[in-house]
Amino acid sequence: MALRRKFVAGNWKMNGSLAANGELVAGLASALAGFDAADVAVCAPALYLPQVAELVKGSKIAVGAQNASEYAGGAYTGEISCAMLKEFGVRYVVVGHSERRALFGETNAQVAAKFAAVLAAGLVPILCVGETLAERDANATEAVVAGQLDAVLALGADKLGGGVVAYEPVWAIGTGKTASTEQAQAVHAFIRARILAQSINVATAVRILYGGSVKANNAQALFACPDIDGGLVGGASLQAQEFAAICKAAA
Ligand code: 13P
Repeated sequence: MALRRKFVAGNWKMNGSLAANGELVAGLASALAGFDAADVAVCAPALYLPQVAELVKGSKIAVGAQNASEYAGGAYTGEISCAMLKEFGVRYVVVGHSERRALFGETNAQVAAKFAAVLAAGLVPILCVGETLAERDANATEAVVAGQLDAVLALGADKLGGGVVAYEPVWAIGTGKTASTEQAQAVHAFIRARILAQSINVATAVRILYGGSVKANNAQALFACPDIDGGLVGGASLQAQEFAAICKAAA
């Protein structure tokens, strides 16, 4: 029995339609029928979460959201609370995706507040961390990832242990440029060591996913690395057969 059960989550980003979602989830559920060797989730745009929660019924596929408000409720026009997500069958919430950090100005402190709000609602946060190419070239990968991680670790290691970490090098997202297994494993080991400094139990148990151009043809090698516990998959999660093959690579 592996130390940590592997986990593959699809991040659909701002893609989909009622018709396309129906086809995608049906294809996925059928391709993954009887598959129980890893946890699988799909993170859909908020508006489609009730639809997707209905579509995955009878399968082992869990539903995730891509973002949530750090606030419990009130005058926050346009926002969606964690409690609202929970009402619609959501189990996971991605927090701090690099697109939200870069395009919507989310700070480490805000991401940590979102992480805490997701946990408080009884949901499982998926905390994204990762460096840009400029940061990697400036040998700042560890400093950047440490800063992103520490903001959440400051909530307490036990809190971090209630979630999942996803290392997503920004330069590998949507570019077709996957991190090599050595590059990915090195950062995953760094993340786990940083958690270990606070809690051996959390460091041992917490799942650290890799994200950034994960495809069926590179998933197995990535998932075989000792500190890579699955994947957070963007583009390839929009194709049922491709995503199912990635899930099976995590077995
Ligand atoms: P791609 O798999 O399309 O590179 O996206 C990765 C990602 O951002 C998942 O959250």
